Amino acid sequence: MFPTSLFTTLLLALTVAANPVLLPRSSVTLPLSRRVNVTSVHNLVRHDVTRAKALKARGLAKANGFSVDAVINEQVDNQAVTYVASVGVGSPATTYSLLIDTGSSNTWVGAGKAYVRTSTSVQTSNRVSVTYGSGSFSGTEFTDQVTLASGLVIPNQSIGVASTSEGFDGVDGILGIGPVDLTSDTLSPATSSLVPTVTDNLFSRKTITANEIGISFEPTTTEDSLNGELTWGGTDSTKFTGSISFTPITGTSPANEFWGINQSIRYGTSTSILSTTAGIVDTGTTLVLIATDAFNRYVRATGAVNDAATGLLRLTAAQFANLQSLFFTTNGVTYELTANAQIWPRSLNADIGGTAGSIYLIVADIGSPSGEGLDFINGFAFLERFYSVFDTTNKRVGFATTPFTRATTN
Ligand SMILES: *[C@@H]1O[C@H](CO)[C@@H](O)[C@H](O)[C@H]1NC(C)=O
Ligand SMILES: *[C@@H]1O[C@H](CO)[C@@H](O)[C@H](O)[C@H]1NC(C)=O
Ligand SMILES: *[C@@H]1O[C@H](CO)[C@@H](O)[C@H](O)[C@H]1NC(C)=O
Repeated sequence: MFPTSLFTTLLLALTVAANPVLLPRSSVTLPLSRRVNVTSVHNLVRHDVTRAKALKARGLAKANGFSVDAVINEQVDNQAVTYVASVGVGSPATTYSLLIDTGSSNTWVGAGKAYVRTSTSVQTSNRVSVTYGSGSFSGTEFTDQVTLASGLVIPNQSIGVASTSEGFDGVDGILGIGPVDLTSDTLSPATSSLVPTVTDNLFSRKTITANEIGISFEPTTTEDSLNGELTWGGTDSTKFTGSISFTPITGTSPANEFWGINQSIRYGTSTSILSTTAGIVDTGTTLVLIATDAFNRYVRATGAVNDAATGLLRLTAAQFANLQSLFFTTNGVTYELTANAQIWPRSLNADIGGTAGSIYLIVADIGSPSGEGLDFINGFAFLERFYSVFDTTNKRVGFATTPFTRATTN
């Protein structure tokens, strides 16, 4: 179920403990695998833009106290690129492949593999439903035992058991690791109850000593690879270089409903793409999305053209040779997205309906102008180059460089 390396580490940890008393762990790590599954042309961009619209609508609805589902009615697209974790539910546990999502906070199963009830399953009197923009699920709330890693168990986690779901082919559900407030209005009749997330429960049970998550993704040139890692209760210093710099959660709505930050974006030494504004960091988005006016400035600066087949921007080889870095500045610290980091991995061009050898950019138009409170999304394309930390206790997001920040694998 878990890769040998993790198992070996756990065994080693047990072996070297001279003291037989079981010490509480300060952090726990779960391996994540990345999958690329783009089944029709435009899925990649359309999925991300639809999600961006839905997140924005959801954040605004929440801030203004109206029903979330009323404002979201979009075409369903399956997730194009996913990071999934193997999570056990029940006793004996059934293992589910769950999508890691920092943009939502309910954990649920049943999209693919059906929920298996065991002696630890307790059905509550609630229905639960969540709309994600390009997908949705609804079903019944249970509390059950959730096993995140060998020996790491949450005895009483609220989970959704889907009776219907759309947009999640190829996965069994979601592990929602966004802020707990995003669970408001997801239960009925208990509409005013929040549903403690997996992270909240690990923290309140003192399994972890800090209410935070560290995430490592790596760029990859293959369709499937086991190259991500989620650490609860701390960070994994083997996955980043230097130190982590933090930025406070933005006060700007609707980005502040999510892992939202203030950030500016510059191209090369002096071309401003986006002056300081609010947006979010999101593991459910593949690309880097920026407001339409910023996107137009990026197009002018790079000379890229829109590629009809993929929906992405395309560069010639000569333009790529001149492509400058994009600089993301937040709370006084600047993160450099190199030219290589701005392009889709060329070995996966066919997966997005592209042509072998062509050069496609991972920066896309969010579909609305800046100044609306959610003007960018730093998705996978960014998170594969920087380690990220989502710190609930201190209401902040952290980034650090990694051995892959300047990699030229794409
Ligand atoms: C389990 O969690 C539910 C809500 O999530 C709570 O109502 C119930 O009291 C908890 N049971 C135990 C034994 O902790
Ligand atoms: C890929 O997507 C298609 C259609 O959306 C789905 O039927 C299939 O199960 C997915 N495959 C994987 C491995 O996720
Ligand atoms: C973010 O930007 C907004 C708007 O400029 C500003 O009011 C706020 O103080 C900034 N910082 C935070 C942490 O929200």
